[in-house]
Amino acid sequence: MVQIAPSLLSADFGNLDRDVEMINNSDAALFHLDIMDGRFVPNISFGFPIIEAVSRKAKKPLDVHLMIVEPDKWIDRLAKIPGVEYMNVHIEACTHLHRTIQAIKAAGMKAAVTLNPATPVCLLEDIITDLDMVLLMSVNPGFGGQKFISRILDKTVQLRELIARTGSKALIEIDGGVNLETGRLLADAGADILVAGSFVFNAENPTETIQKLSQLK
Ligand code: DX5
Ligand code: ZN
Repeated sequence: MVQIAPSLLSADFGNLDRDVEMINNSDAALFHLDIMDGRFVPNISFGFPIIEAVSRKAKKPLDVHLMIVEPDKWIDRLAKIPGVEYMNVHIEACTHLHRTIQAIKAAGMKAAVTLNPATPVCLLEDIITDLDMVLLMSVNPGFGGQKFISRILDKTVQLRELIARTGSKALIEIDGGVNLETGRLLADAGADILVAGSFVFNAENPTETIQKLSQLK
């Protein structure tokens, strides 16, 4: 079975407690929080006050996806927030990725690396055994509700092979354009965790939608 990480980017921020409670009471495994700085991606989302507000109410671990330049600056601050399990940094934003990964772990979080759609899996060859998770973007980051890029199915298979070959314990997470159809293809390709934003929060029944997604495999 795949695990589901609903993305709060598509939540109703005027009713954040209600939406956090919905996820608490659903089959979701993680909260996915999308942080955008208007530099690494052409959009700004939210920052520490919202992460902290979610952390106070969340009964499941937080997976924080940092679409920002210089993520190293925020490692210690993020690590202090209770419930932050994964710190997800973009490979394209990290000049010294090995150093960043070690610093994330030393701060007590799990280390995850995100790849944009055009970034090849082979770049992970020399870091994969240090990672707790790899996040493959299946849209260009910055916005919810975009169309799934199907090339990511092949990348998921490639990443599964790299993990098997190296004995890495990294989980495979996919983010962008996930629905029941693309979710099924991703589960078959070897994904462990699916992020879903608009498909969950635009659904008539978000709880049921999370349940259906989590039963994909
Ligand atoms: C996009 C974000 C995603 C986004 C996914 O930059 O990283 O997490 O919320 O949204 P959907 O599921 O609507 O494609
Ligand atoms: Zn995300």
